[in-house]
Amino acid sequence: MRVIIEENYESMSKRAASLISAQILLKPNSVLGLATGSTPLRMYKELINMYKVGAVDFSEIITFNLDEYVGLPMEEINSYKHYMYDNFFRHININSDNINIPDGMAPDIEKECSEYEAKIHARGGIDFQVLGIGNNGHIGFNEPDLKFKAATHLVELDEETISANSRFFNTIEDVPKQAVSMGIRAIMGAKKILLLASGKCKAEVVRKALYEGITPEVPASILQLHPDVTVIIDRDAAACIGAGNINMINI
Ligand code: GLP
Repeated sequence: MRVIIEENYESMSKRAASLISAQILLKPNSVLGLATGSTPLRMYKELINMYKVGAVDFSEIITFNLDEYVGLPMEEINSYKHYMYDNFFRHININSDNINIPDGMAPDIEKECSEYEAKIHARGGIDFQVLGIGNNGHIGFNEPDLKFKAATHLVELDEETISANSRFFNTIEDVPKQAVSMGIRAIMGAKKILLLASGKCKAEVVRKALYEGITPEVPASILQLHPDVTVIIDRDAAACIGAGNINMINI
């Protein structure tokens, strides 16, 4: 695991975007696993800017989003489908047939989960997976649990997640209680993983996930077992990591 500490959110985002563009340069038809939330927003902006100046071409990439709320249609601004089109897809030359996002409106969610899993498998798995981290250590919507959930699954969202994500909604009651999430198998099966975290509020969970025991109660801790993880965090998110633990500092 390489841990890169950037000065701030902006430089973290630039570094992340450059890793993704390098991946696409090396493999134009890369299968990218994509994340939502506030953390990757600036990274998407950087990628759009790179696309506009001709530095990156998305025409052949295939994407799989990590997760989606259950019961929010695309028109709803808090649906992750809306987020992805608004913040990324409609600004780049991606082929819409290559975009995959779990359908939280599917009449049969179990079926949707197994079909999503099969689609990832049919594409040969993820080449490059982008992750954020929840305050409770979740990745995608893999919530703290007694066991890691391998496959794409229906999630009952944690109180903590509902409360954290309520900042995007009018009231906390508007936050969906369920979501569909890619499971740990597809995430850990990715050839490369990029984990991003920014801000003081993530400092403690970043320390726990990267430097404490591997446990399904902190789902991101499983990343310690992956052979090719790059963690890019800003100084605030690195605040709880002891100097002896850092294998690479970027000042
Ligand atoms: C959300 C998403 C995650 C995201 C996380 C952190 O609930 N499901 O994929 O990584 O929470 O979000 P943020 O980046 O806004 O802190």
